[in-house]
Amino acid sequence: MATLTLRAVCKTRHGRQQVLRDIDLDVADGEFVVLVGPSGCGKSTLLRMTAGLDSITSGDIRIGSRIVNQIAPQERNVAMVFQSYALYPHMTVAQNIAFGLRMRGMSADKVQERVAATARMLSLEALLERKPHALSGGQRQRVAMGRAIVREPALFLFDEPLSNLDAKLRSQMRAEIRNLHARLGTTSLYVTHDQVEAMTLAQRIVVLNQGGIEQIGTPEQIYECPQSTFVASFMGAPAMNLLRGRLTADRQHFDVDDGPRIPIAGAGDAGVQVEANRETVLGIRPEHVTVTSDQPIPLPVDACEMLGADNLAFGRLGKQSLVVRLPYHQRPGSGEQLGVALPAAQLHFFDGQSGRRVN
Ligand SMILES: Nc1ncnc2c1ncn2[C@@H]1O[C@H](COP(=O)(O)OP(=O)(O)OP(=O)(O)O)[C@@H](O)[C@H]1O
Ligand SMILES: [Mg+2]
Repeated sequence: MATLTLRAVCKTRHGRQQVLRDIDLDVADGEFVVLVGPSGCGKSTLLRMTAGLDSITSGDIRIGSRIVNQIAPQERNVAMVFQSYALYPHMTVAQNIAFGLRMRGMSADKVQERVAATARMLSLEALLERKPHALSGGQRQRVAMGRAIVREPALFLFDEPLSNLDAKLRSQMRAEIRNLHARLGTTSLYVTHDQVEAMTLAQRIVVLNQGGIEQIGTPEQIYECPQSTFVASFMGAPAMNLLRGRLTADRQHFDVDDGPRIPIAGAGDAGVQVEANRETVLGIRPEHVTVTSDQPIPLPVDACEMLGADNLAFGRLGKQSLVVRLPYHQRPGSGEQLGVALPAAQLHFFDGQSGRRVN
């Protein structure tokens, strides 16, 4: 096992397009770190550079104590699992899993022993003689994982390994990956744009935006204390409500741009600890908006979506929208009005210009 360290890593393509800028990241020995971000933000590029499949423009990548910038992929002792599985179609499952070991000149006995142990770990014993075309998507993904595990690498790199699977299989494989990590303890960097995967697998999450790191933190830190409107709206489904406006001088009310003046529930005599009369974005998650009859904020509802366990009401405050998560039995029709409150303890405030957190 090993640590992974990235220092001031940049990637520019064709001498101009900056794909990654100044990436600093420390993954501890045995840690499971998940990289999330919108499509095209550079997640795969970062993984490929770590694996040695793509060059870096500047900076250093270190695996353990060794700088690997110039080291060939096969010498880095990393294993990568791709979304596309990338299995050899003409080889059986056993041959696919064994391939990397054979290439390294391991003895046939030893190869067989390792393949058997890996197949056991992934419940692939019954499939060892099949070819990939005769496997389901989930089974193929498991073979791809087997091929990575069997090499006993210092570092696992996963690039959206579960995104081709249906929801049920994804949740099963998520649990398997968690168990495998608990057993093997291999340092892992895992790319996904599935929030549930990020929240459930990660010891720490790295949020990437347009080639730069927006925030690094535990799932709790990222969810409870997003450092920017980008992180606030990226993590969480549905996204956090973000209302543009200004706090009033008493800091107990918020003037919604193109909307009403609304009270902040439980703000206390001193009001919330954020500068008044300044362009501000107020954030609140849909599950934190409460329904109340005590000095409610009137919220006209445009539509209500039934999710199963609960409902989402899509309301309006002037021209800005506010989504509220409601319990199963509460399902307002469109055109109805809800009375809601925004509790001070659940509010997030961001600078209206920079989008950075201010409280
Ligand atoms: N081989 C390439 N040549 C030129 N540009 C590339 C190449 N590969 C990726 N890019 C560009 O680099 C940027 C980052 O791509 P990357 O594949 O790392 O994004 P990503 O975060 O993995 O996205 P996704 O979530 O869609 O997989 C994108 O703008 C992409 O168009
Ligand atoms: Mg990608």
